Amino acid sequence: MEIISFFNHKGGVGKTTLVYNIGIALAKKGKRIVFLDLDAQANLTAAALAPERIIDTWNDGKTIWSCLKPVVDRSGELREVDLQQIRDNVWVLPGDIRLSEFEEICPQGWTEALAGNAGGFRVSTTVHRLAVLLGEQVSADYVLADLGPNVGALNRTALLASDGFVIPMAPDLFSITALPSVGKSTSLWVEEWRAAKGSAKRRELDLDFDLPLGEPSPLGYISQQFTTYRQVPAAAYKQWIDRIPQEYENGVVGPLRKAGVPIPSRQPLIGEVRNLSSLIPMAQRSQSAVFELSGTEARGSQFTRARDTFSLFEGLATGIIGRLAPESE
Ligand SMILES: Nc1ncnc2c1ncn2[C@@H]1O[C@H](COP(=O)(O)OP(=O)(O)OP(=O)(O)O)[C@@H](O)[C@H]1O
Ligand SMILES: [Mg+2]
Repeated sequence: MEIISFFNHKGGVGKTTLVYNIGIALAKKGKRIVFLDLDAQANLTAAALAPERIIDTWNDGKTIWSCLKPVVDRSGELREVDLQQIRDNVWVLPGDIRLSEFEEICPQGWTEALAGNAGGFRVSTTVHRLAVLLGEQVSADYVLADLGPNVGALNRTALLASDGFVIPMAPDLFSITALPSVGKSTSLWVEEWRAAKGSAKRRELDLDFDLPLGEPSPLGYISQQFTTYRQVPAAAYKQWIDRIPQEYENGVVGPLRKAGVPIPSRQPLIGEVRNLSSLIPMAQRSQSAVFELSGTEARGSQFTRARDTFSLFEGLATGIIGRLAPESE
């Protein structure tokens, strides 16, 4: 089982939309998928579950908050809840706005882990233990985590829990200037985690849980081109598109390679996603992937366009899993 995060602290670049469509495309290829909504905004949950089902999970204590509450309260161990099945081979752990309460305890947990304190390791490995627990619940092949747009303490534990991460981005100034901070933060976290694990070993801490490897591989980026004209990127965007490969290499790959993280040997561009305009809200309304829209939901040429996105998302899915560890340099 592998854990893959979709991460970019630049907001609105299509992370959630990609996680969902790529996950369902993987399931259609026979893989067992768990969606982990690690964004307190819970947009992935809204994409996956109808509003009344979201309310039920909240009332029944089946969201991520129910898992994390004992850790936050320091009243007990991480609690397992039943995942929500949404398709053959696809399950979701619903997100929860109270995730922010877990995030609040992460910085102190991190400091304590760096000091070699067992309680700090318990907090700092929570996301990893949760992903493993839920993945094992349904014998998942992949746990796909949707992260919120920040380089905060929760995303640090999520990244260190991951085998690899994908960077969705848009060809614009802000997305490009976000790349060095993605690389800088992630490589710092990798190095700090290594130091923390070193101190756990030196102190011969007797932990009753596994420590994640903490070496998330940058699997590559997906370039979103919401603003295109007849499939050709608008001229204003061309200059940014041309700059991405070098900026990605310098900003993300360079620092992570230096930190000793495995770098895939394939080219970093996993693929491009064009503007799917009204198909996106249409799919969101029926909790479907774009390519699952029916002929009554999307009519005529819209239906054909929607159906044809399967090869796009399947290609991205194959590109992502093909860049995981075995093929790395
Ligand atoms: N291929 C696409 N074509 C057109 N619109 C899209 C496409 N992908 C996503 N969108 C729209 O762009 C907006 C941002 O997408 P999304 O929520 O997936 O981004 P995000 O990176 O997860 O955002 P956040 O950082 O807030 O979590 C949404 O309104 C979504 O419907
Ligand atoms: Mg999102």
